[in-house]
Amino acid sequence: MLRRQAFARFNCIITPKAITRSKYSTVSGSDVARTKVPFKNITIFGSGMMGSGIAQVSAANEYHVNLVDLNKGALDRSQQYILSSLKRIARKKTTDERMQTNYIDEVLSRINFTTESEHAVASSDMVIEAVVENIEIKQNLFKSLDPMASPQTLFVSNTSSLKIKDIFRDVSEKRKERIGGLHFFNPVPQMKLLEVIKTDTTKQEVFDTLFNYGVSVGKVCVVCKDMPGFIVNRLLVPYMLEAVKMLERGDASAKDIDIAMKYGAGYPMGPFELLDYVGLDTTYFVAKGWYEDSEIQKMELVKPPSVLKKLVEAGNLGIKSGKGFYEHRK
Ligand code: CAA
Repeated sequence: MLRRQAFARFNCIITPKAITRSKYSTVSGSDVARTKVPFKNITIFGSGMMGSGIAQVSAANEYHVNLVDLNKGALDRSQQYILSSLKRIARKKTTDERMQTNYIDEVLSRINFTTESEHAVASSDMVIEAVVENIEIKQNLFKSLDPMASPQTLFVSNTSSLKIKDIFRDVSEKRKERIGGLHFFNPVPQMKLLEVIKTDTTKQEVFDTLFNYGVSVGKVCVVCKDMPGFIVNRLLVPYMLEAVKMLERGDASAKDIDIAMKYGAGYPMGPFELLDYVGLDTTYFVAKGWYEDSEIQKMELVKPPSVLKKLVEAGNLGIKSGKGFYEHRK
């Protein structure tokens, strides 16, 4: 068991001998050319939980990051979020308070919190968007960034539900060779998984670089086709919606469903805890988008339950608003 955990932890540098010994191998991307990522400068758009987390893990692994948002208030909140996450990590690294502070300062020194997108993008080797899950906003963002960026710059989306190809509809044909998906999980510093997505226009060397970047920031990388929801959300979202439908029918309470899935299936959080954690609006808009617009439309499995719609419309979005399926102390 211990050995399996150790392999999972270092899966990306696992040796062939070790692979045969591991019953449940976590190795993916065997056709990826493993090379050092040939750059250090990254710009991330969107300083919410996902963007902040991606900035943090990148900076902690020696990348220089511009974290861009529309206003200073959002960037200040992001800085606080990253600081509190770094404190948790620093405390685990060492009990020496001076070394903790040094570690935190060093990581933060590699993040430039800015509202100046043009300057940030012009000097970046990779641009990752983690903005709101709205296809038009993402399309317009990349369309406007395309002429500002170097022809070599990689354009990447952290979308959780949209097709990568659709997001980059309006960039130049040349740029379409340099696009891809990197789907992180919340909380990014703690969740080990990264889904890496290649479109039918992505060059193999670009995909290899994205995969190797994932490895370099300590993630376990899996490869997935460019389809809505990729692997995890395609399975996780219907599961959470099904839980809400159970609640609507009165089959069981939210609390009992959560307890059941934690203690009966070994999940770290029950579906309602997870809905509140991720944000009810996030899951609602993913489900709505899939049901109405995407290639998996009209599947009953992804029909947004009315309880979820009502909560979102009332502004009860989960932890971030103080109330979702549960009450949360601010
Ligand atoms: N930064 C750094 N470390 C963090 C952290 C953060 N923001 N949040 C939690 N941690 C660490 C803690 O320090 C702690 O570490 P140790 O075990 O080494 O002490 C560990 O995570 C556990 O944290 P806690 O003890 O505070 O709380 P917990 O045991 O309840 O775990 C949790 C919290 C990690 C969030 C856990 O409940 C969990 O894994 N939940 C499921 C999360 C999940 O499913 N995420 C995916 C959501 S879907 C998604 O993200 C996709 C999308 O597109 C929206």
